[in-house]
Amino acid sequence: MARWSGGLRCLLLLTAIAFIYTQVRLFKAQSEYAEKITAAVEGENHCTSQMRLLIDQISMQKERVVSLEEIVKRQQEEREQLRTLVQNLERKGVKNLFQQNQVPVAAVVIMACNRADYLERTIKSILKYHASASSKFPIFVSQDGSNPDVRTKAMSYKQLTYMQHLDYEPVHTERPGELIAYYKIARHYKWALDQLFYKHRFNRVIILEDDMEISPDFFAYFEAGADLLDKDKSIMAISSWNDNGQKQFVHDPYTLYRSDFFPGLGWMLSKSTWDELSPKLQENHKGRQFIRPEVCRTYNFGEHGSSLGQFFHQYLKPIRLNDRPIDWKSLNLTYLMEDKFVKHFADLVKGASPVFGTDLILKINNVKGDARIAYRDQEHFEEIARQFGIFEEWKDGVPRTAYKGVVVFRYKTTTQRIFLVGPDSLEQLGIQN
Ligand SMILES: *[C@@H]1O[C@H](CO)[C@@H](O)[C@H](O)[C@H]1NC(C)=O
Repeated sequence: MARWSGGLRCLLLLTAIAFIYTQVRLFKAQSEYAEKITAAVEGENHCTSQMRLLIDQISMQKERVVSLEEIVKRQQEEREQLRTLVQNLERKGVKNLFQQNQVPVAAVVIMACNRADYLERTIKSILKYHASASSKFPIFVSQDGSNPDVRTKAMSYKQLTYMQHLDYEPVHTERPGELIAYYKIARHYKWALDQLFYKHRFNRVIILEDDMEISPDFFAYFEAGADLLDKDKSIMAISSWNDNGQKQFVHDPYTLYRSDFFPGLGWMLSKSTWDELSPKLQENHKGRQFIRPEVCRTYNFGEHGSSLGQFFHQYLKPIRLNDRPIDWKSLNLTYLMEDKFVKHFADLVKGASPVFGTDLILKINNVKGDARIAYRDQEHFEEIARQFGIFEEWKDGVPRTAYKGVVVFRYKTTTQRIFLVGPDSLEQLGIQN
């Protein structure tokens, strides 16, 4: 029994030794694998970060490719623009040989963007009356942007010079909600006028838009206007437009007025005025006025555009465009000069019968000759304007078309004038009430 147990003990011991030995070997192998795995994980991490770096680099390269493509596109457009200019200059150069001694009265610029069909209608209307005035009024089309139809259309007329404004600068509006379009339009105007006044050295520029037709006496009117601009520095601009120029409110195509309200839509300004306006792009009348006709010399047919449809149908569509040729050069326009006009206008207002109270239209129908109605303030003015259907709008304390607070229009297409007279108007006109 003792021998058996001695043999058993020996066997157990051997087994234990073998077990321990196996454990030690296993442990060693395990730690070797662990080290290898750690090394492998490190290797993989390295690979991943390398790959990320490469991806970053690729996307950076892609961005560069995109921006290079943009530059190429821009350069192509600019090259196109230069080519156009060169072609134009060549054409003008030849033309100029034949008319060297003519100093132009004014450059006429049509501001265009992307409406080729409208532009065509405008150009056709201008060319209809331009032939005899072509050397005095060289025509330009200034396009904002690169709409190819507009460019092709503009360049298809040999009578005019094409200019292109390419503006890639982003627009920063000053206040939230402001329309970027207005900034773009303002930049285009500034660019075009700078070109015409400073690069091409014109003394005067007439600005039209690409949705306007002109009257037969358009050029004669502005030639007479140029003379007034030169003689009277208190005139900011000559306008072809009357905001209350709808058929029912006008009668006489010879009548012109001064106005404190900037009429816009087809106007001529001189270089000295542009010298002031260009740096700030803000109009500041400084007590100066505009000349406006009773009957419009431009007609705005642009139903689709920046003007709203409702506005177009109510105010623009019914405008009367003068259809008579008038020899403006033979007329005496001295009455429009600053010192003369106050008296001239005051006499008209003085000659009008005052009408008061309610039922104004009824009372006016019984007045022979001109009538005048006094308004107390803006609200009262708007109420009266609504009854007649004329413009109610005010800007900077001035009603549209007003001269010293007086708005004048014809009643029912007759010779009868109606004057809406402001609270300070009579005093400003030197009339004793
Ligand atoms: C033109 O009209 C003014 C008054 O407005 C007058 O003084 C002047 O004599 C007129 N000139 C001619 C040439 O008729």
